[in-house]
Amino acid sequence: MAEPLKVGLAGLGTVGTAVVQLLDRGRDKLLARCGRPIEVVAVSARSRGKKRLIDTRKFRWIADPAALAADPAIDVLVEVIGGAGDPARRAVETALAAGKPVVTANKALLARHGYGLAVAAERRGVALNFEAAVAGGIPIVKTLREGLNGDAFRRIYGILNGTCNYILSRMEQDRLGFDDCLREAQRLGYAEADPSFDVEGHDTAQKLSILASLAFGTKVDPDAVYVEGISSITLADLDAAGELGYRVKLLGVAVRTEAGIEQRVHPTMVRKDSAIAQVMGVTNAVTIDAEGLAPITLVGPGAGGMATASAVVSDLADIARGVRTPPFGRPAARMTAIRKAPMQRHEGGYYIRLLARDRPGSAATIARRLAQQKISLESIVQRHGVPPTNAGQAGRSGEPVPVILITYATSEDAVRKALAAVRRDRVISGRPQVIRIEKN
Ligand SMILES: NC(=O)c1ccc[n+]([C@@H]2O[C@H](COP(=O)([O-])OP(=O)(O)OC[C@H]3O[C@@H](n4cnc5c(N)ncnc54)[C@H](OP(=O)(O)O)[C@@H]3O)[C@@H](O)[C@H]2O)c1
Repeated sequence: MAEPLKVGLAGLGTVGTAVVQLLDRGRDKLLARCGRPIEVVAVSARSRGKKRLIDTRKFRWIADPAALAADPAIDVLVEVIGGAGDPARRAVETALAAGKPVVTANKALLARHGYGLAVAAERRGVALNFEAAVAGGIPIVKTLREGLNGDAFRRIYGILNGTCNYILSRMEQDRLGFDDCLREAQRLGYAEADPSFDVEGHDTAQKLSILASLAFGTKVDPDAVYVEGISSITLADLDAAGELGYRVKLLGVAVRTEAGIEQRVHPTMVRKDSAIAQVMGVTNAVTIDAEGLAPITLVGPGAGGMATASAVVSDLADIARGVRTPPFGRPAARMTAIRKAPMQRHEGGYYIRLLARDRPGSAATIARRLAQQKISLESIVQRHGVPPTNAGQAGRSGEPVPVILITYATSEDAVRKALAAVRRDRVISGRPQVIRIEKN
């Protein structure tokens, strides 16, 4: 029988445990597909004494992940510890420097150091595979890297965080507030005790920065992503979106524009009949918009031990077969510094929800400020059935009147300037809610 591919596994948590189980369970099928067995020979984790779902006694225990990476008995390192810093970073760098291929699920590490690691892998002519780092079980990395004509990508966008999609789905379906849905997500294990990394959009931003690199050949730069989370979204927004034919999703969007590459993460209104709007709960989805192709949407599990391990094992299978592709789909020397399109130049439709003060002239002032910025309105919805032009004369309750505006395509700069002026005019209460509309 051909020599096995000997794996050093750093990390025995949710993903690491599932990798061991999957390699065990799929042993014969993998042998048939790759022509050689894939075997874990040594492992590393923080606590040797911890009770685990797998029997670790059959593997050599190497306490330091970097020592595991350097161990002459392993052919490939699987890094599923997590985090942009050490010990994950040092273990991956050590393996690459020793000429060993690496499989990692670590989006934080790739978002921060992806380019440097790609250079290190290329220098030694070894693979750096990371299918599991973005959208778990969805094979989006391979699709972008190998499956399509790389010059043709126009836009890539997706639901990349299951926690946020679960919260927004529950809010809409069960008419619950954000806090209730977040608590439920925590109870079910979908959200961390400190959920801010997920709900404020940073997890999505890391993944998006990796996808943008794969799609546009730019060096990974998570700081080039504009980020807004979902914690300000209310039931009123979801209701209004629904009435207007939209659904709200936290999307990561990367687009090639004349001003450069736009990368943004924010709550987004998508047409209810679009493929991405159908994706509910913790499920992830990514849509690829490329020249000459109708949009392609991949939908599937974005997290979970087995889904993620499936991506890790698929990356291992490529290494076992001797397949090596540049980590970001092109030689590192061909990856360019990102030309970041400023968010102010973003163009698109906007949903704006305002609380107009109940006094004469409010609506006229709002309309004037929008017109000054050349913003045209596709629709105006005013609650309580008062015609918008009379918002200021409503006068019955003295309460501010919710007004919902949908704009035609305009610029971010225009919207920000118009709303700043409206606030200075003191014709609205509180902060306006703004949700960008994505064409799909
Ligand atoms: N979970 C998912 O659904 C999912 C999906 C996609 C991608 N990922 C990525 O996969 C990676 C692993 O995630 P996970 O959910 O499996 O994490 P996890 O359950 O927290 O497991 C982390 C593992 O790393 C070990 N570890 C932590 N610090 C260490 C140190 N200083 N030295 C040695 N080992 C250390 C832990 O050891 P102990 O067991 O001894 O504590 C544990 O085995 C992360 O990069 C994550 O972003 C996860």
